[in-house]
Amino acid sequence: MNKGLLLTCLIVLLLCGQIHAAGESLWLAPHSESATTVSTNVKVSPTLQICIDELRASGLGGSVDLKRVKDRTLGRDGYRISRSGTEATVSAATDLGLLYGSYALMRGAADGESRPAYDLRLLNHWDNLDGTIERGYAGHSLWRWNELPGTVSPRYKEYARANASIGINGTVLNNVNASSQILSAEYLPKVAAIADVLRPYGIRVFLSANFAAPVQLSGLPTADPQDPAVQRWWKDKAKEIYRLIPDFGGFLVKANSEGQPGPCDYGRTHAQGANVLARALKPHGGVVMWRSFVYSPSDPDRAKQAYIEFQPLDGQFDDNVIVQIKNGPIDFQPREPYSPLFGAMAATPQMAELQITQEYLGHSNHLAYLAPMWEEFFRYVDPASLKAVAGVANIGDDANYTGHPMAQANWYAFGRMAWDPTLRSDEILREWLPLSVFTTADTPAEAVDTVASMMLGSREAVVDYMMPLGLHHIFAFGHHYGPEPWCDVEGARPDWLPRYYHRADSAGIGFDRTSRGSNAVSQYPADFAALLDDPATCPDEFLLWFHHLPWDYRMKSGETLWNELCHHYERGVKSAETMQRQWAEAEPYVAADLYADVAARLMTQTRDAYWWRDACLGYFGQYSGMPLPEDVRQPINKLEDLQNIQIKITNFECPKPEVLNKLR
Ligand code: GCU
Repeated sequence: MNKGLLLTCLIVLLLCGQIHAAGESLWLAPHSESATTVSTNVKVSPTLQICIDELRASGLGGSVDLKRVKDRTLGRDGYRISRSGTEATVSAATDLGLLYGSYALMRGAADGESRPAYDLRLLNHWDNLDGTIERGYAGHSLWRWNELPGTVSPRYKEYARANASIGINGTVLNNVNASSQILSAEYLPKVAAIADVLRPYGIRVFLSANFAAPVQLSGLPTADPQDPAVQRWWKDKAKEIYRLIPDFGGFLVKANSEGQPGPCDYGRTHAQGANVLARALKPHGGVVMWRSFVYSPSDPDRAKQAYIEFQPLDGQFDDNVIVQIKNGPIDFQPREPYSPLFGAMAATPQMAELQITQEYLGHSNHLAYLAPMWEEFFRYVDPASLKAVAGVANIGDDANYTGHPMAQANWYAFGRMAWDPTLRSDEILREWLPLSVFTTADTPAEAVDTVASMMLGSREAVVDYMMPLGLHHIFAFGHHYGPEPWCDVEGARPDWLPRYYHRADSAGIGFDRTSRGSNAVSQYPADFAALLDDPATCPDEFLLWFHHLPWDYRMKSGETLWNELCHHYERGVKSAETMQRQWAEAEPYVAADLYADVAARLMTQTRDAYWWRDACLGYFGQYSGMPLPEDVRQPINKLEDLQNIQIKITNFECPKPEVLNKLR
């Protein structure tokens, strides 16, 4: 093949998304020739062998001593780093501690000690057994169920390395909308084969369990948790699993939520259901993570449901059950107040579920660095009040794992914050950028600063053009890509429709959750509830979450509510445009394919930001009857055209720019 033809083929492949040269090694430096000498005072285990291999090839140079020490203060996973000249020492009480310390040394961590805040730092994969990923925007599932257990993809090891390097130590392999098949005799050996690869990296495997598995897999007449045959079934299943996977972590369960079966189908409580699974796992050391994401309406306000169902069960869960709570009370919106269930069950271990995949944040078309959102969450919810943290993964089988190359930063940041929730988003970014984006030493500081500032502001930009001032859930039905504040679907549950949330009418906009409305505020501690209850003290970013206010309501800034809303949408669009300019400044310092990929996605993001602004201002303007403020540009899209947009995608994919460009 001549050179011209080869180049053309490469360009075509690149455009078709077949190859992405950028980011395949994630934040792990490619192996280097520059020798590093590694010594250790203990017998080399598989985990220690990984430390040795990684350090030797790390390019650090000099020598590293891996020292097992009897020091209880370091705990199971902690480590200590000390350097003297070209010699470094990593000390830990276990091989896993040495592994985490080795990776920390490789990313240039300072001398000193580090211990994780949580024993469990988990990813949740929403991967289906047919290879699709619910809300996944980076291709298909990494888990190739058809080939397992005979063929084990080399990517499992790369996945394990990446996770271990940021401290993640558990992974739930399958979707919370779980197929019972994962617990079958056919699938468990496949799960075991993955567990075997992850084990030396300190990563334990967990599974999402379908509560009706005894019925679906074994034909039992019921899955009632009080039925002795059902209890026996779960005990036997646990034994079968542990025979194959001795370090199996446990179950994640979505019960009585969005059509999933659960104990309430039999008149039992979530606690009664969770305890049956917990008792089956207990002798083997496993845990149950029981999700509180429920909203079968027993109250007209969906935001109140989890608290209503779970808070009264405080103290009734066995000690190896952890209640897993989404960060906010609705569903992973770009900004939510924290879920009031946090801190409201003093006798029950709780864990946070954060979403790394960008279901409501522009999928893998939009750049949204999410660490600032999680930092905000930890300002409201004391990290010490939690037992563990889980993140819904944004990982698929795309060459760069995350679709948007910059979304690797969200995977990275999640892991780092699950280890240390007090880390600041900019600190994490400053670690990640030189490992992943600016890999040459001579990048000027200004270029790094510009890209850091682009990323740090990106989540707020998304909030501005999608859901300013606490508006929420005004996304397109089903796939959640793009605006649809007008959406109406015959027969749909009201709380799946945007109007339920924005409640725009000629009198105003917003959901009244005050003591005069749904009284959701009363689920928060009294002093915070009082602050939220009054629009004058409610933080602006949550205003329309908690209040229905007239269009001419005077904001703290002195502007009318309508004008301020308009300014947020306009600011969102301008921020997207600024991000394009900021990225352009980085061009000389980043790999050409990475540059082009991100630039193209930023173009889509900016066009989407205009779409959001024009759709929302056009639609809400019909109710406000007020003109756009002078400094807000006129829409570039007609409302009726936008109202006709239908994107035909499943919940497993991100719309392609070519498709979007024809529509908006
Ligand atoms: C959201 C999401 C679903 C998901 C659910 C859950 O509703 O859209 O795809 O299954 O959350 O977290 O269980």
